[in-house]
Amino acid sequence: MKSFKGRDIIDINDFSKEELLFILKTAKKFDPAFVKKDRSNYTLAQGKIAAVLFFEQSTRTEQSFRSAAQKIGMGIIGFNDPESTSIHKGESFSDTIRIMDSYADVLIIRHPRAGAAKEAADVAQIPVINAGDGPNQHPTQTMLDLYTMMKEAGPAPDGARAGKLDGITVALMGDLKYGRTVHALSIALSHFNVKQIFISHPSLAMPDEYLKILKEKKREFKVWDKLPEDLKGVDFLYQTRVQKERFINLSQYKKIKDKFILDASFKEYLDKGVKLMHPLPRVNEMDSSLDAHPNAIYFQQARNGLYIREALLSLVLGRL
Ligand code: NCD
Repeated sequence: MKSFKGRDIIDINDFSKEELLFILKTAKKFDPAFVKKDRSNYTLAQGKIAAVLFFEQSTRTEQSFRSAAQKIGMGIIGFNDPESTSIHKGESFSDTIRIMDSYADVLIIRHPRAGAAKEAADVAQIPVINAGDGPNQHPTQTMLDLYTMMKEAGPAPDGARAGKLDGITVALMGDLKYGRTVHALSIALSHFNVKQIFISHPSLAMPDEYLKILKEKKREFKVWDKLPEDLKGVDFLYQTRVQKERFINLSQYKKIKDKFILDASFKEYLDKGVKLMHPLPRVNEMDSSLDAHPNAIYFQQARNGLYIREALLSLVLGRL
């Protein structure tokens, strides 16, 4: 396993199964579900600065990175409105990165362009964390998704489920074409013996490049164009938002946006044991009446992001 100190977190493909499991294990150190004593550690990364550079909107990812950084004692600089910076005057992306690189110890970047985080990492000396680059990837979301699945998957009846991920079935639903969270998640799950089911309108299907990975690894998967009557055997249903902002043709968006909605009747599946996840934000694809159900775990999922990001910042700064 490569050292995490100084490492960029750009692409989920850069992480082996062993490394992903190590990150999940490290996150447990920050999670009150596993650490009973006061877990505040305001000195772990004291004196270090995180630059939070958000060129695209965010609630959870930006705020949980800010919270995680402060919980381990870091200072924070950055912006979430690039128009308030010299970019407005015409400064280039690479110049902005070069400047922030000299003021901070880690850069956390979200950008609407696929590949922007990698471009930043090529320019910066300090570690760069990809907080979402267009429709491409969102690796820290994937790590918190895996962490949530690992935490919430019950033990296998035969006790053989390694790390609790092997042996589960995960259905990914909604916008599988433009949704970066499902892209990186599918790749990460391919390390494990996980059956994947892709449920979407055909025009928002999982791109072939991701199915190819599953074929190469001989992982079982299915492609469905509607939610079936019976979700037997599905441990997690990962619902997603149709990514309106990535559509070139808005009339196409309007045509398909309401095709994969989970209304109040989905409670029946939750009662049968399917756990419902969602990276959030939701628009109308998941009825709020489901929220109170113990198997609706999307708010816990968002909270788990804090522990993953505390772990990642500590690791890339060499403080753990
Ligand atoms: C997602 C994102 O930004 O990719 N949200 C998140 O980071 N939790 C999902 C989305 O915007 O639909």
